[in-house]
Amino acid sequence: MKIPFASGKILEDRDFTAREEEIVRLKTNFQSLTNTVVVSPRRWGKSSMVAKAIKSFKTEQNDFLFVRMNIFKCATPQEFYAVFAQKIIEEISPSAESLLSNAKEYISHLLPKLTLSDQTGKYEISLGIDLKNNPIEDDVLDLPQQIATLKNKKVVVCIDEFQQIGDFSDTLKFQKILRSHWQGQSDVAYILCGCKRHIMMNIFDGSDNPLHHFGDVIYLQKITNDEWKKFIVGRFKDTGKSISTDLACYLAEQVENHPYYVQQLAQYTWLRTIDFCSKDIVDEALQTMMNSLNLQFVNIMDSLTEKQRNFLCAICDGVVNFSASDTLSRYKLGTSGNIRIIKDALKKRDLIDETGKDIQIQDPIFKLWIIREFAKM
Ligand SMILES: Nc1ncnc2c1ncn2[C@@H]1O[C@H](COP(=O)(O)OP(=O)(O)OP(=O)(O)O)[C@@H](O)[C@H]1O
Ligand SMILES: [Mg+2]
Repeated sequence: MKIPFASGKILEDRDFTAREEEIVRLKTNFQSLTNTVVVSPRRWGKSSMVAKAIKSFKTEQNDFLFVRMNIFKCATPQEFYAVFAQKIIEEISPSAESLLSNAKEYISHLLPKLTLSDQTGKYEISLGIDLKNNPIEDDVLDLPQQIATLKNKKVVVCIDEFQQIGDFSDTLKFQKILRSHWQGQSDVAYILCGCKRHIMMNIFDGSDNPLHHFGDVIYLQKITNDEWKKFIVGRFKDTGKSISTDLACYLAEQVENHPYYVQQLAQYTWLRTIDFCSKDIVDEALQTMMNSLNLQFVNIMDSLTEKQRNFLCAICDGVVNFSASDTLSRYKLGTSGNIRIIKDALKKRDLIDETGKDIQIQDPIFKLWIIREFAKM
């Protein structure tokens, strides 16, 4: 029997829940070619939501072309341009032959080479030029509009892990280049997804920044406990097992309704349940999940300074005023001036998220693990 919960991948229809409003908003933005920025911490469901919106939109419209790419591995503008060109050419090429002929037609000076990917078994284009020494941005960044015009289609380019560009060495110059090309494209929209809220906000909120007011910004929220409850109960029922509404609610609460972890905990729980789920099964599944991440969490803790570790413990203890003198001395945080430095370092590592005065540990299992292992001060 197929496990009715899925974690760590872009979801298929039946595994997907909630997000109705956001999907309508995205589809409206596709239709009107409104640029959109989607921001949330890791694994809250940005990519799954965009994939779902595209799939649904495609059943209603066929004069749109969608290009999806992930720029996680890009550390320079040149690497960005290579992925950008490659994904666009791949998208418009249904066969290996057309891949090569399209590459020759649109990006011939980038010396495209056709290779068979070991991982996917599909043909891919690799660009054989020394990208470092060639100013190629004009050709590459104008490709979507060029294709839109030639094919008489609207093009929507979805870029995942967009926060990466914040780490490019000359990021502002690069952002200016993007803006100058993208803002004039009348048949193209961009959907830019990213985690690391502070970097994304810096790129799109900073009033002096080139991409300020670039598009509609969606700060994705977690899926509510109510939605999870219905989903979990339904998935158990569909597979001949049973969990009470209260227990489903408890399950999601244990991991603070974090989408990835709710799916994972539900999966572990479902596997342990023969027919009726009990609280003991959920608790045991949670401990197993935590244990499986033990080494990863130990490594994270080892890589932090003592002050950073103590700061995380203070969050777990429910401290809100980190600059108060008793907090500083109790958690050995040094002077109040240190707090910003500690917070910045932890945000950069994606370990905490700050919204106004609220500071949270991003990973709810890491938080539970710290409470279990560390917060004994
Ligand atoms: N709408 C949803 N319904 C059910 N489960 C979901 C939903 N969205 C996300 N999930 C769960 O969270 C996991 C992570 O989702 P996804 O990869 O879309 O997140 P993401 O925000 O793109 O993550 P990252 O920042 O790492 O790219 C999914 O594999 C799934 O287990
Ligand atoms: Mg993603």
